[in-house]
Amino acid sequence: MKNYIKHHPWEIIEEGFNTEFNRVSESLFSIGNGKFGQRGNFEETFTGDSLVGNYVAGVYYPDKTRVGWWKNGYPEYFAKVLNAPNWTKLSIKINGEILDLSHAKVTKFNRILDMKNGLLKRNFIAKLKNGISVTVQASRFCSLDQDNMGALSYSFTVDQSAEIEVSSYIDGNIRNEDANYDEFFWENIKSESNDNQCTLIARTKKTHFYVGLKTETNLFVDNDKINRFQSHESAINSPTVSSFFSIEPEQSIVIEKKVIIRSSLDVDKDQLDDVLVDEINNIQNLSYKDLINNQQKAWAKKWSESDIVIEGDIAAQQAIRFNIFQLNCTYSGNDERLNIGPKGFTGEKYGGSTYWDTEAYCLPFYQSTADKSIAKNLLIYRYNHLPKAIENAKKLGFSDGAALYPMVTMNGEECHNEWEITFEEIHRNGAIAYAIYDYINYTADKKYLAEYGLEVLIGIARFWKQRVNWSEEKQAYVMLGVTGPNEFENNVNNNWYTNKMATWCMTYCDESIDWVKKHFPSDFERICEASSFDDSERKDWRAISTQMYYPFSEKHNVYLQQDGFLDKELIPVSQLSDDERPIVEHWSWDKILRSCYIKQADILQGFYYFEHEFTHEELKRHYDFYEPLTVHESSLSPCIHSILAAKLGDEKRAYDFYLRTARLDLNDYNNDTRDGLHITSMAGTWMTIIKGFAGMEVKNDQLTFNPLLPKNWESLSFKINFRDEVKHVFIDRLGLKINE
Ligand code: BGC
Repeated sequence: MKNYIKHHPWEIIEEGFNTEFNRVSESLFSIGNGKFGQRGNFEETFTGDSLVGNYVAGVYYPDKTRVGWWKNGYPEYFAKVLNAPNWTKLSIKINGEILDLSHAKVTKFNRILDMKNGLLKRNFIAKLKNGISVTVQASRFCSLDQDNMGALSYSFTVDQSAEIEVSSYIDGNIRNEDANYDEFFWENIKSESNDNQCTLIARTKKTHFYVGLKTETNLFVDNDKINRFQSHESAINSPTVSSFFSIEPEQSIVIEKKVIIRSSLDVDKDQLDDVLVDEINNIQNLSYKDLINNQQKAWAKKWSESDIVIEGDIAAQQAIRFNIFQLNCTYSGNDERLNIGPKGFTGEKYGGSTYWDTEAYCLPFYQSTADKSIAKNLLIYRYNHLPKAIENAKKLGFSDGAALYPMVTMNGEECHNEWEITFEEIHRNGAIAYAIYDYINYTADKKYLAEYGLEVLIGIARFWKQRVNWSEEKQAYVMLGVTGPNEFENNVNNNWYTNKMATWCMTYCDESIDWVKKHFPSDFERICEASSFDDSERKDWRAISTQMYYPFSEKHNVYLQQDGFLDKELIPVSQLSDDERPIVEHWSWDKILRSCYIKQADILQGFYYFEHEFTHEELKRHYDFYEPLTVHESSLSPCIHSILAAKLGDEKRAYDFYLRTARLDLNDYNNDTRDGLHITSMAGTWMTIIKGFAGMEVKNDQLTFNPLLPKNWESLSFKINFRDEVKHVFIDRLGLKINE
């Protein structure tokens, strides 16, 4: 755990240059606008340890799979959103010495993420080896207002007369650290620099996405524009403009750089060059100040829809805003081809691909803080992938329109290649079906079921029907060889959560068929034809739903996570020593699999989804039985435990788990923030407040609340968009108020 980030309600502040945490800070200071984003890398040259990261949404590469032993059914490739050309680059030479903080003596340094205005700022003073001291103020943003644009301002002064060389460039020499075969994924198609502009058009190998960047750099000395760029380099990977001049100590230099970033996802590749020219021209007369103004307005609007205010606890306040800020940087929801990678635009891990995280954790945030079209796009993403999900199931031996959605995907095809997850972690199908229910229940957009939802539900119900088998021994249906949400158990039989999800899906599909048949008969006909659906299929779904086997312990009076769970030695996590944690880093996989330790909510994930089916006592019994065995080594775990603890009225545990999820990255609890932020679990943080502390639910078409205010919070307030009306909810010790 780290504690170097200062508390502030609206800012993330790093004081002092913590080189050992540089990768962590680069993750924390990430910015984005839904279309592109980047880590908090430095603009000027930096040769110290750094993970440079710039990403353009939806632009991916199929990196050839690497496994030890091939298994039939494995996908050929892992699609990853690529690290893309970097538009922010500057090189500053002062009397021939390059400004590089890993070689200079840094006497003052701070980095600030101004979340209110969507700005990343940095100030420092550094003494070069040649004795010159340079004072720098930098800021930049990815525009929320105009998502094809970004800009930066970089100003500096020196303490002695000096010869200066400023170069502004686009760095196209980009490699992914996580490349399986150390390949270079890009081909640079065009590299050009003239006047004060640089253009780079690059194409991904194999997938042939084109990404075009055009920058314009303006240079000011003492507020006078001196656009003397005497040198233009068009080296194929990094077009550069450079200026040489001398300055006196009292003079200030300001570099302003704007960028237009476009990809062939939105612009025809043959038009890309022209579009870049037009769009940079459109912002030519706007100063950095003008652009910031627009950025501030766009963020003010976002905050007016999604802010949460916590009075009396600054650490909690800072954390929830950080989570909301990053969620809004990652996904803006106006493009149904895009989704939410577990690390968003903040790192390479998980390849920017889509996981069940989207439906299970992210959907509620976007559903409640933005127009319903945003959440609908997340669902349509899966609807569009239905043919691929059917193909995926077919590859594994299923038939007749059964659909298995991938565990990890970019375009609907499975990318994951560990058998225990690819073939066995099939509960993901359940989250996708549940999201349809949740969206309709929340928004009342029932037509969605007829237009899109039911086809997906039928594919999923068919899959479950074929995945179970009748056990003569148990006289019940069973599901063999699965991995539940707890990935520390593989190839288990009758994982309670998966069995429960499967029957719920079949029942929901069955009910939905009746509803669509009645209310949208022509859609129903279309769906029957498209999916060759026959009413007789429902008989099996009903039989399985009523005769499914759920492992249960009479002794403990709890459902068992899977068959044989009680054969394990049940030693609570509290008895593990600190130097064994996290167990995933300290224990062999063999030891983990034989242990009772649970990576993340598994049975309790089911209690979270289906809470209304259980009594308070049942929830408490299961919580008390399973939580002590849970190591929370997935970032997705603490949020579910916080919500359930709040439901149980257990304020202390709800609050402790809240801090753990909300400040997971700010305090680097799991010692992995350097790889990127845990974006999808940030949506889980939002749920801890709304579903946990505020206790919000939709019951009989009404929003209901059951607040539990943590002891040290004076009040909690937030905006919620429910069925096209924004409601302002305020909770304090006196109770709850809602204003329309
Ligand atoms: C979790 C999965 C999750 C994935 C991506 C894993 O560690 O166990 O549930 O989907 O991370 O966030």
